[in-house]
Amino acid sequence: MRLNHNEFNAMQGGFKEIIHKHLEMRTLKNLGLEITGKNVLEIGCGSGYGAELLSAYQPKTYLGIDLMPEQIRLAQQRNINNSQFEVLDATRMNQLNTPPIEEIVVFRILHHIPEWKAVLKASAKKLSPGGSIYIIEPYRYLSKLADLFLAWQHPPEALFTTAEIREEMHQLGFATKTTSIGYGFAMQGTIASAKTD
Ligand SMILES: C[S@@+](CC[C@H](N)C(=O)[O-])C[C@H]1O[C@@H](n2cnc3c(N)ncnc32)[C@H](O)[C@@H]1O
Repeated sequence: MRLNHNEFNAMQGGFKEIIHKHLEMRTLKNLGLEITGKNVLEIGCGSGYGAELLSAYQPKTYLGIDLMPEQIRLAQQRNINNSQFEVLDATRMNQLNTPPIEEIVVFRILHHIPEWKAVLKASAKKLSPGGSIYIIEPYRYLSKLADLFLAWQHPPEALFTTAEIREEMHQLGFATKTTSIGYGFAMQGTIASAKTD
């Protein structure tokens, strides 16, 4: 779901980038994020700050997708080496023509997507055997507070708990590790091979 005006503005620069760099990236590194020389997909790349942080580790390829064309334009303006950006709804990830993806990164996206389970399923299919997904999401109470006091908007279908997302990951065949980041959680999921149904 598109961000509303208030959240779109809050996502550009400032405080968000400090948290993104010093808390979220460090937490993912501690969970084992290792992308040097790998093919990386970032779901919901926004205006490309995550791509900038990830590019420091020199992935082989990086593709960032986002639903909002205005976010993708901002990301492209950063001119990050070896990085590509594409407007795409994550629920249509199966349309992507990419090399085998070894790492998927998600910075605060799934709680915007009513069909978050479908996105996890598509991620499981997109990953090479042994590949991992790294997810940062806020606790749902925080999304509710942001809607109430900052007039952001989150779809009720995506107000999952940490336990619900973990359970979904296990159903898909991911082995997971989770850690708290105060306002939310970071989860790493590694897949031997995607379960088909
Ligand atoms: C909270 S922002 C985070 C953006 C970026 N990861 C960051 O940290 O700055 C959520 C992003 O998810 C994107 N988004 C929401 N629903 C999406 C979907 N179905 N497919 C792709 N991107 C989506 C929004 O356009 C927005 O850029």
